[in-house]
Amino acid sequence: MQELLPAGSVVRKLWMSEIDALRDHLLRLDRDSRRRRFGGAVSDELIARYAATASQAGVVVHGFFLDGTLRGAAELRPLGSLFADEAEAAFSIEQPWQSHGVGTVLLARTLLSARNRRIRLLRMHCLADNGRMQQLARKFDAGLSFDFGSVVGEVDPPRSTTLSLLREAVADGHGVANAILDAQLRLFKAA
Ligand SMILES: CC(C)(COP(=O)(O)OP(=O)(O)OC[C@H]1O[C@@H](n2cnc3c(N)ncnc32)[C@H](O)[C@@H]1OP(=O)(O)O)[C@@H](O)C(=O)NCCC(=O)NCCS
Repeated sequence: MQELLPAGSVVRKLWMSEIDALRDHLLRLDRDSRRRRFGGAVSDELIARYAATASQAGVVVHGFFLDGTLRGAAELRPLGSLFADEAEAAFSIEQPWQSHGVGTVLLARTLLSARNRRIRLLRMHCLADNGRMQQLARKFDAGLSFDFGSVVGEVDPPRSTTLSLLREAVADGHGVANAILDAQLRLFKAA
C-alpha cells in the first residue's frame, strides 16, 4: 500500500527511550479521542502508568512523528505469553491529524509486524459508535469481522514469509535513517 503522509512526517517504531513521548502523546488526546482510545474516561495518572507498560517485552509501538513530535501511535501487545498467537492492537491519533490517512499507514505497519510475529488473531477493542476505526479496519482484507462493542481481526495468512520479514526490516531501516535525518534537521534549524 502506498504511504501518503503529511510532509515532514515519519512513521517508525518507537525506541525504549521514547516511552515519555508515548505518554505525552496519549495525554494530549482530546476528550473524545481519549474516550475512544481507552473505551471510557480515564485519568492522567492511569494513562501515565499505562504508557510505562509499553516497555514490556513483546510490545511493538509504531509512531507517527511530525517535526519530531509523536502525534499518533499504534500499539501491538501480545496477549498472554510472549509467544502468544493472539495480540491486541490500539490506535491513537491526535485530533488535527485524524482522517489524513495516518491510521491507515499505522494499521498496515501493525499488521505486518503481527504477521511476522506469527500472530493469528488481532483484537481491536473499539466502541460500537467508532465509525472511523471500523471503516479503517474494513479497508484491510484480513478477514476482519465485527463484534458489537469491539472489532476482532484475523491476520491472514497466519505465517510470516521471507518477503514480509524483509518488508518490516526495510521499514525499520528507513525509520532509523529518517529519525537521524529528522534530529539533524531540527539541530540545524535551532542553530
Ligand atoms: C480511529 C483512528 C485511529 C483512525 O485513524 P485516521 O488516521 O483518522 O484514519 P484514516 O484517515 O487512515 O482512515 C479513516 C477512514 O475512516 C473514514 N471515516 C472518517 N470519518 C468517518 C466516520 N465518522 N464514520 C465512518 N468512516 C469515517 C475515512 O473516510 C477513512 O476511510 P477511507 O480511506 O476509505 O476514505 C483515529 O481517528 C483516532 O485515533 N481516533 C481516536 C482514538 C480511537 O478512536 N482509537 C481507536 C480505538 S483503538
